[in-house]
Formats: sequence, structure tokens, C-alpha cells
Amino acid sequence: MRARKHASQERVQRPDGRRGEFARYQHVAPLYDLLDLPFEYGRYRALRRRMFEGLSGAILDAGVGTGRNMPFYPTGATVVGIDLSPAMLVRAARRRERLGTEVGLLEMDVLRTTFPDDTFDAVVASFLFCVLEPDRQAPALTELGRICKPGGQIRILEYAYSQDPLRRFIMRLWTPWVRRVYGAAFDRDTERYLPEAGLETLETRFLYKDIIKLIVARPARGRRKRVVPSSHAAYAPAAYTSR
Ligand SMILES: C[S@@+](CC[C@H](N)C(=O)[O-])C[C@H]1O[C@@H](n2cnc3c(N)ncnc32)[C@H](O)[C@@H]1O
Repeated sequence: MRARKHASQERVQRPDGRRGEFARYQHVAPLYDLLDLPFEYGRYRALRRRMFEGLSGAILDAGVGTGRNMPFYPTGATVVGIDLSPAMLVRAARRRERLGTEVGLLEMDVLRTTFPDDTFDAVVASFLFCVLEPDRQAPALTELGRICKPGGQIRILEYAYSQDPLRRFIMRLWTPWVRRVYGAAFDRDTERYLPEAGLETLETRFLYKDIIKLIVARPARGRRKRVVPSSHAAYAPAAYTSR
């Protein structure tokens, strides 16, 4: 309930083009956890834990979804989760209550957040970039770079097509379904957009076979910043950490 209230209170304008993604997750939200259950327990949980290893301070969970990362938030960190879909955020808020997790939840577009420059020590995004169309990859990365502190890290968990012919064939069979249900694709090739987004790649490594990889990047020195108007100063994470 609290997230619904948050969503209406903190509603930000969605630029044109967000409606499709918005509507899709509004519809899929009631089934999301159920549909993902075999993958969550078969694959994702171990990877989520590794994504958060060594992180601390102010952390943004971009595209928080139903809050599947919550059990792995580092103790003592100040975490904020953002998502475009209020229906997903409502489920995240239920998980927050159930687990007793300290996390602020906000309805916000990753392409245009309202956080000031250099807000977060780390930004994580699990399976967000696979749902962003190619023309949104660089803008989303640029925005994450803007709100990440210099020296901070951006960690992205993403799919790639396997090089193994049989695995690749099976993934191809799944492709129309993941496209239709999640708006997702396995071939986003997010690393390709890091330089144009002003980010330096620190590491890319596969965590699950040659299918799911962790991309670690950081803001490059001298990147261009967009200073958010002072009217948005209240969006600093500390304001959203109380449950
Ligand atoms: C595949 S789900 C992943 C959810 C979660 N991170 C996880 O690991 O289970 C993608 C999420 O990204 C959100 N999303 C899609 N486009 C977005 C955008 N432009 N800004 C913020 N969130 C977005 C969707 O609403 C959805 O909750």
C-alpha cells in the first residue's frame, strides 16, 4: 500500500515512448514472481548475491521490479529502488514488509531520474537493460553514470546468447516469448554503449554458463554532468529510507 501512495505522490512525468514498457509490466506484475520462480531459484539468487558483493553506502537498485534483490542488499547500506511500473513497486513494497528490508521505493524512469549528480556509491541493475530498446541503452547508462559518484561502481546483470549451438538454439526458441511477455531480448550488448555513455568498463564476466554476465563499470573522468534543478533536491536517497 505504501508504494501505491509513494507512486501517486512522487509520480514523475514519463517522456513519450515509455507507455509500452509501462503497460507491459503493469500487466505482467501479478504473475511476474510465479513466471520467474524456476529461474529465480535455479539461477538468479546466487548471481544476485555476487552482484552486491563488496558494495556499501548509498546504493540504487534500478528497475527494482518486485524486489527480488532485497535479500541480498548489504547490511548497513542505504538502498533506494526505482521502477517505471507502480504495479511492480506494490509487489516490491509487500516484499519489503515481509523481509523487513530497509529500502526506499520510487516510481521513476531510469532514463530521467530526479536524483542529483553523484548521489550513489553504487548502482545495480539486474535484468533491466535487456528490456530497454537499443536506442535507450546509452541514455540509460549516461543517466546512471551521472548519479553515480566518481569512484563508484555500476553493476549490470544481463543475458547474452550462448555460443554453444544447442543452448543458443534453445534460447532462440524462448526469444518470442520473452519478447512478448517481458519486452526483453538476449542480445542487447549493453557493454557496447558504455564508452558513449561516458563509462569505463572495469570488468565483464559470465556468472552463469556463457548466458548471464556481470558488467562492472564506473564513471569516466571528466564526464559531462546534468545538474538536476534544486526543486528536485528532495529526491536525495536519505528521504526514502524509512519504512
Ligand atoms: C525484467 S524486470 C527485472 C526486475 C528486477 N530487477 C529483477 O532482477 O527481478 C525489468 C524491470 O524494469 C522495469 N523498467 C522497465 N523500463 C524501465 C525504465 N525505463 N525505468 C525504470 N524501470 C524500468 C520494469 O517495470 C521491470 O520491473
